[in-house]
Amino acid sequence: MAKAYAPYSKFPVGAALRTEDGRVFTGANIEVASYPEGWCAETTALGHYIMGGGGKIVEIAVIAERMAKCSPCGGCRQRLAEFCRPDTKLYLCDNTGVAETVTMGDMLPYGFRGDILK
Ligand code: THU
Repeated sequence: MAKAYAPYSKFPVGAALRTEDGRVFTGANIEVASYPEGWCAETTALGHYIMGGGGKIVEIAVIAERMAKCSPCGGCRQRLAEFCRPDTKLYLCDNTGVAETVTMGDMLPYGFRGDILK
């Protein structure tokens, strides 16, 4: 979150993904003057995760400076679901730590899965 580039919304967000072998990939939101071209903290973290070799994601954490329990937007839920299982834990944080624990299945019930495309 401290590394967010959010001069337009002034809403810094941080995300972290932990894989089962203990690697942690972090991300922050990055905004662009042409607003729709910016992207979320979770998406930055997923980019780091893929470039770092991927693997099984077991935990996700999201934090926003100005909002307790900031939860991933719809697009990020779909992107995270691509690399997670429904039981993957998602920690919604506040400035003191984990405020609520949910699962990816809670976040994206009935989500579209790519299996059918293979
Ligand atoms: N944002 C995230 O980075 N993650 C979320 O889960 C929700 C929203 C960002 C996008 C934008 O830079 C700012 O928060 C305000 O929408």
